[in-house]
Amino acid sequence: MKVLFFFGTRPEAVKMAPLIKEFQKYQGEFDVRICVSAQHREMLDQVLSFFDIKPHYDLNIMKSQQTLFEITAATLSGIREVLQDERPDWLLVQGDTTTTFVGALAAFYEKIKVCHLEAGLRSFHKYSPFPEEMNRVLTSHIADIHLVPTERAKRNLLRESISEERIHLVGNTVIDALFLGTEKVEHLLPDDFSGAFDSINFSDRVILVTGHRRESFGKPFMNICHALRTIADTKEVSVVYPVHLNPHVRKPVFEILAGVPNIHLIEPLDYPSFIWLMNRSYFILTDSGGVQEEAPSLGKPVLVMRDVTERTEGIDAGTAKLVGTDPERIVEAASLLLDHREEYERMAKAVNPYGDGKSSERIRNIFLNTVGLKKPE
Ligand code: UD1
Ligand code: UDP
Repeated sequence: MKVLFFFGTRPEAVKMAPLIKEFQKYQGEFDVRICVSAQHREMLDQVLSFFDIKPHYDLNIMKSQQTLFEITAATLSGIREVLQDERPDWLLVQGDTTTTFVGALAAFYEKIKVCHLEAGLRSFHKYSPFPEEMNRVLTSHIADIHLVPTERAKRNLLRESISEERIHLVGNTVIDALFLGTEKVEHLLPDDFSGAFDSINFSDRVILVTGHRRESFGKPFMNICHALRTIADTKEVSVVYPVHLNPHVRKPVFEILAGVPNIHLIEPLDYPSFIWLMNRSYFILTDSGGVQEEAPSLGKPVLVMRDVTERTEGIDAGTAKLVGTDPERIVEAASLLLDHREEYERMAKAVNPYGDGKSSERIRNIFLNTVGLKKPE
């Protein structure tokens, strides 16, 4: 069975990597092919390098400040040729990026079956997250097989009349990746990370921050930065922020936060360093999807700087809280965690609502036993 893995950004790479590794172990059964759009460049390469994945095709589409139109057009024409040359039995796409949706669309045009990993997430808000919510909905209605992380994701698809026999509950491969990464770094000390953490005072409590959502560009992002500044000015903490390479993120972040002594603006970390830092942090402030999924597994409270989330399982489990982008709300929620031990303990529970680390194995079995026999929907 020829399976073509197609992805383009950091989070897709993290979540595809364990599955690629698993399929590559069964070379008699699977002809594994890999194509990256490289919608991200440096941040994608960091993940490929850690997992030692060498793509057969690299569309290399990334441009500085790329628009959705540019990503869509370049990816669609690039993947077309690869699909025509390879004619895989299956195209595997992951998640909700523009690479994901365009990959599915191209496979549909070529009448190639599509398997969607991390299917069924919904915020039910067309523009939030933007464009990810619509990318997911559209991908679901093209895909032939839907690999869902949770029961809730499965229910979402059933409500959209997707047939149950094509939905497989497998958990999220992000936890497989997290376990692979944790194994490599749990014994390491700050000095083992070749200078990445040199400026950070680890005797303070560390607040780890990430942020990049398109719907927050402009004022909401500035609000987030002002909130971080207030927290850093009023509490004895080290705020550590590996800043996403998107210029729409970097401009406000560096303008508002550079030079604050206990705010450390660092470059995006490679995956194992980031896992180590998550583990070492007191709590996490983020708008990232993947980080919302990883943190509960590590017992780290997460304040989600968004108005809505499609990852509601962490909220229900009590380890994540939606705080939006209003500075007062962010500062209040952070202060509660810093000043009230009980509140902190209540949130700092290690739970695994998104997976158990065995998703890749399950998916491999599904492919070996059932998926290969399915006709396009
Ligand atoms: C993309 C995805 C988003 C995902 C996020 C993960 C879309 C529309 N957006 O958003 O769903 O959550 O990735 O991080 O699919 N850049 C670099 N080097 C890199 C990566 C980005 O310089 O390695 C800069 C470039 O200027 C690029 C810009 O960031 O044009 C934006 O990248 P893009 O992929 O369009 O958007 P993200 O915000 O990264
Ligand atoms: N991550 C990383 N280095 C960083 C920040 C994040 O390796 O400096 C990892 C993180 O562990 C998670 C993924 O990148 O697995 C999340 O990516 P991102 O937040 O860019 O995208 P999202 O998940 O929001 O789509």
